[in-house]
Amino acid sequence: MARVIAVAVPKGGTGKTTTTLNLGAALAERGQRVLLVDFDPQGNLTQALGLRPGDLDHTVYSAIKHFLTSYESRLEQAVQQTPAGLDVIPTSARLNLANDELAVAIQREFVLQKLLAPLHERYDIILIDTLPYLGVLVVNALVAATEIVIPLQAEYLATESVSLILEQVQLMRRSGLNPNLLITGILLTMVDQRTVINREAVAYARKAFGSQVPVFQAMIKRSVRVPESQASHQTLLRYDPQGDVAGAYRALAEEVLRAAPPK
Ligand SMILES: Nc1ncnc2c1ncn2[C@@H]1O[C@H](COP(=O)(O)OP(=O)(O)OP(=O)(O)O)[C@@H](O)[C@H]1O
Ligand SMILES: [Mg+2]
Repeated sequence: MARVIAVAVPKGGTGKTTTTLNLGAALAERGQRVLLVDFDPQGNLTQALGLRPGDLDHTVYSAIKHFLTSYESRLEQAVQQTPAGLDVIPTSARLNLANDELAVAIQREFVLQKLLAPLHERYDIILIDTLPYLGVLVVNALVAATEIVIPLQAEYLATESVSLILEQVQLMRRSGLNPNLLITGILLTMVDQRTVINREAVAYARKAFGSQVPVFQAMIKRSVRVPESQASHQTLLRYDPQGDVAGAYRALAEEVLRAAPPK
């Protein structure tokens, strides 16, 4: 069984896609067989890897469509290999339509889990990039996942959304949808230690959440290298391999590997 890690928090622009991509790349660098799943209709992960949603015959959305009429997974058709040494299942904006289509589907929360099941033996780690809302798509990701990584932008306004996702994890466990869902950790992103306000936000987040759930030691600094790498369709580990942010994603990968749940 692969570890399946959902990267999720219901707030936009906190570094979910950046983390999915570069944590994935750092895990691949460590010899892990990694699959990324773009489960956000915005398709930022798909695009950051240089794939054009309009050119793709098979996406996670086409696999959902097929599944809803057959209850059979054809997700492997959508797998794309990338020069970054990891595989990706791309999306298109049509994944938006799945919100309504899943709403009336039998076992709607389990569709992504069932789609991914045949791929487990091919990978060590599957990372799912999610959209910044709590809805049926994110619930699907949290059912398919064995674990969750929560990116928290180092600012006061972001902590509310972390409380919300922690409540959602509790609901997933208590409802029986995913009784064993683990919180791998909260990841502080866009950290800028030069400003007092930002240092305070980091200290506050560690204090407010650190007693309840793991907060990764690794922190991701704010750096212009991040948008630059995405614009050039490369991972940070390729674009700026010696940079601080690439180093932080490598350190995060080490922590994630050390946090492997017992088999
Ligand atoms: N460490 C960083 N330093 C500077 N810019 C960053 C950093 N991490 C992410 N960004 C930039 O911030 C923006 C948002 O990041 P990202 O797309 O990873 O967030 P997200 O949580 O996936 O957003 P959404 O909720 O819209 O999916 C992007 O333009 C990205 O390039
Ligand atoms: Mg995103």
